[in-house]
Amino acid sequence: MNKGPRRFFGLFMALTMGAACFTTHAAEAGARDKLLMDFGWRFHLGNDWGSGYGLNKAGTGYGPGSPSYSDASWRKIDLPHDWAIEMPFDKTADGSHGFRAIGEGFPDNSTGWYRRTFDLPASDAGKRLWLEFDGVYRDCTILVNGWFVGHHEGGYNGFRYDITDVANCGGSNVVTVRVDASQFEGWFYEGAGIYRHVWLVKTSPLSVAPDGVFVYSQFKGGAAKGPAEVHVQAKLANTQAAPAEATVTWEILTQSGSSLAKVTRSQTVGPKGKADLEQVAQVQSPQLWSPEQPILYKLVTTVTSGGKVVDRIETEFGIRTFAFDADRGFLLNGEPYTLKGTSNHQDHAGVGAAVPDAVQYFRIARLKEMGCNAYRSSHNPPTTELLDACDRLGMIVMDENRLLGSDSLHLSLLEQHIKRDRNHASVGLWSLGNEEFTVQDTPAGKRTVATMQELVKRLDPTRPVTCNAAVGNDYPGVNEAIEVRGWSYHVGKDMDAYHKEHPQQPNVGSEQGSTVSTRGIYANDPVRGYVSAYDDNAPEWAQTAETWLTYFAPRPWLSGGFVWTGFDYRGEPTPYGWPCISSHFGILDTCGFPKDNFWFYQAAWTESPMVHVLPHWNWPGKEGQEIDVRAQSNCEEVELFLNGRSLGRLPVKRNSECKWKVAYAPGTLSARAYKGGKVAAETKVETTGAAATLQLRAYKSALWANREDVAVFTVSVADSQGRVVPVAGNGVSFDIEGPGRIIGVGNGDPSCHEPDTFLPVAPSHSVPIDGWRYKKVAQSNDEKAAEDAVAFDDSSWDPIDIRTDVGAIGLHEKAFYRTRFTVGAKDLASPAVELVFSKISGGVAVYVNGHKVGGGMDGRSAAIYDVKALLHPGENVIAVPIENYGTDGAGLSKGVMLRLQDEAPAVHWGRSVFNGLAEVIVQSTGETGTLTLKASSDGLQPASLQVKAMPAMARPSLP
Ligand code: GAL
Repeated sequence: MNKGPRRFFGLFMALTMGAACFTTHAAEAGARDKLLMDFGWRFHLGNDWGSGYGLNKAGTGYGPGSPSYSDASWRKIDLPHDWAIEMPFDKTADGSHGFRAIGEGFPDNSTGWYRRTFDLPASDAGKRLWLEFDGVYRDCTILVNGWFVGHHEGGYNGFRYDITDVANCGGSNVVTVRVDASQFEGWFYEGAGIYRHVWLVKTSPLSVAPDGVFVYSQFKGGAAKGPAEVHVQAKLANTQAAPAEATVTWEILTQSGSSLAKVTRSQTVGPKGKADLEQVAQVQSPQLWSPEQPILYKLVTTVTSGGKVVDRIETEFGIRTFAFDADRGFLLNGEPYTLKGTSNHQDHAGVGAAVPDAVQYFRIARLKEMGCNAYRSSHNPPTTELLDACDRLGMIVMDENRLLGSDSLHLSLLEQHIKRDRNHASVGLWSLGNEEFTVQDTPAGKRTVATMQELVKRLDPTRPVTCNAAVGNDYPGVNEAIEVRGWSYHVGKDMDAYHKEHPQQPNVGSEQGSTVSTRGIYANDPVRGYVSAYDDNAPEWAQTAETWLTYFAPRPWLSGGFVWTGFDYRGEPTPYGWPCISSHFGILDTCGFPKDNFWFYQAAWTESPMVHVLPHWNWPGKEGQEIDVRAQSNCEEVELFLNGRSLGRLPVKRNSECKWKVAYAPGTLSARAYKGGKVAAETKVETTGAAATLQLRAYKSALWANREDVAVFTVSVADSQGRVVPVAGNGVSFDIEGPGRIIGVGNGDPSCHEPDTFLPVAPSHSVPIDGWRYKKVAQSNDEKAAEDAVAFDDSSWDPIDIRTDVGAIGLHEKAFYRTRFTVGAKDLASPAVELVFSKISGGVAVYVNGHKVGGGMDGRSAAIYDVKALLHPGENVIAVPIENYGTDGAGLSKGVMLRLQDEAPAVHWGRSVFNGLAEVIVQSTGETGTLTLKASSDGLQPASLQVKAMPAMARPSLP
């Protein structure tokens, strides 16, 4: 057996468990609270209420934008959440986004609503309160307690609102987010919804401003040698009307907590003012960060005023230098360092764009196992936790901006991006954009990039800047202005000619490769949408692994490059279309299962002896026919054996593979790799028997019981000897017991249309509420009117049918409506009991059993109230005062009903294996104990596996 997966497992356990124990990035304590706001949201899909707010009067959100609106029957969800993966596949949908029925042409699936209700303690009065979103796809409107607080456009930048004035300290609050995912931003799968974390941040009135800490290091003379000068900065914000004395202390700690340096600075911060404070600390003998040794330090920034600590922020950072040299290529800590990179989009099997933090570590660890040391976040700012994983596991990041532009909007997005990410040890260079075909060779493109680059340099004096302009040998435009020339494919004479003509400009292979391949497939199959996994097929604009690696190897000035892509992603099903729904570019599939080129790159990029042989050896019916056999190794020679008989020894050429034609006979195909004449690595593939049993393997034997951590399970179909059947496609069902829940399934099949996720759908039924009476009055009043009370005698009022299209109350008239209705205890036991007024025009308030449930309702939307806690078995009373200052026909119309939700039937998870494998992602429910995942399939021996959910300090979160 190849040793790869085992080595990977060990590395992954050590690193992720370690990471979970290490202080979270920028963790706050003391005077600042940073509360995760991911849990306890409600979600509704559909464009049912228009915008949900009006601009004519403040605080008048309607429908779900109104604080009194009931979301009791909406689906309960935790963030991050991507509803695009919940949509069906549709042949008419956008293929580059993965044929999900969302976006253009699918308006009903493209708007989603999120609500979160929470209490704030009275003691929060006087603090600054910030609502922070790390990323929402794509446009969204945010309301807090019915107030419109902001509209954000763009799927990849974080944003925040100061909600201090509209928050209700000492009471209940509701945040409503309307998300519009109808506009695509990229040409790849992008997801939909609040797909990154949300936070509530509480600070003192004098505090560090958002993203206000910056730390970077420099060395005397530029070389990464001797003491490091660590530059520390803090931007303070004073929201008080009086000036404030502030002292900032910056302390640098090692991972084990030893203090290395401490510096301070004091300043008065003016009333409602800001102040920038900075200092330089010395770290005498820094341990330099690198992908091989990702050593991090911690900066603790403390702000004191009037003898009290008013703010404290912890920031992880690394001490190292990144640079480019026109001849020597990329330099890490002053030494030439080949970038062995992959470009990646952000989605993963089962979860889409809503990737749990632990899966980021899983993905980065897989890439490292391949020998990868660099990651390009194509084509957008990544989520912060991806950078955390790269900081801690060791991966240099090309951090890419999404939208090219130098107007104030684009520059503010860029500024926010740079300020958010510039403290990360892993960020090695900034990329301003990718393949902007229309403008990249124009004078406007040049000017735009120059302006953007100048801003980046001002915000971060330490990192190089690139932009991936796919213009071959051309110089005019972006390439004239950019510091580091980015190359998209174009392997060949263009590069040499360009380097000769522009010898002063450094270069980087921003986007290289890319072989298209499907895991476990060894012949192209356009009908099913599969491409052979040999390193043979690349789109016409691209190259195989062998071609680009071979070209780059003798040209250090190119700095190495980033393969398109590390992982498959949804969308861009090149070279096919429907029924293919995900790409074939990945070296690993969407689940992170390696395709054969994983070992091609491992052979090229690692030194620890390895050998891999392909294809699998299950070819019944092909006996005697020639099979194309290849071996990938980083040793000197490889010898191939079929059933123990040597088929010859071949020399290994770096960045290439050994090839044989072998007449097929079932049995064992094995390979030995030699170094210095000695066997250094061995591997084999065997002809398996028929599918007999299921197997489960988890990449973690334990997870943290913190409601966030996940365990990634591999499901395999094996023969009676436990060997994975490489052609198996059995359907498998999953059950889970204990403190875990399945959040997604996948199998890496680029043409599979089975669901990634199985949703509980709770049906509901409605009971009409009739028996209404009404009375026109001279004066109605929503406060304490006798007519609103339960005991009021309305028997003399006129009965009225409220199911008509328009109401009965004329212009300038006032009236009361009342009804009595009976509910049974069984109905009240429903998970959601809601009172639905299809339309109230001119409504002043609604009283249920004398309690006011809402006021100021808006005729544009049904008024829906959560009345579960207000109703009792037997007779109940509703009263509605109306004042019509609008048009004719106000009052109640179109019917009133009680909507009762039924229990959601249990969901049954399942997924077919693809070429023997599938993946199940299980998340902690927050409880400790042992969870058991069970897999079953007709005719196969079932499997079950236990994983421990261990006590963990959950990070502070909003109750
Ligand atoms: C590149 C582009 C990528 C992807 C790739 C497919 O030109 O930058 O986003 O579309 O082509 O080959």
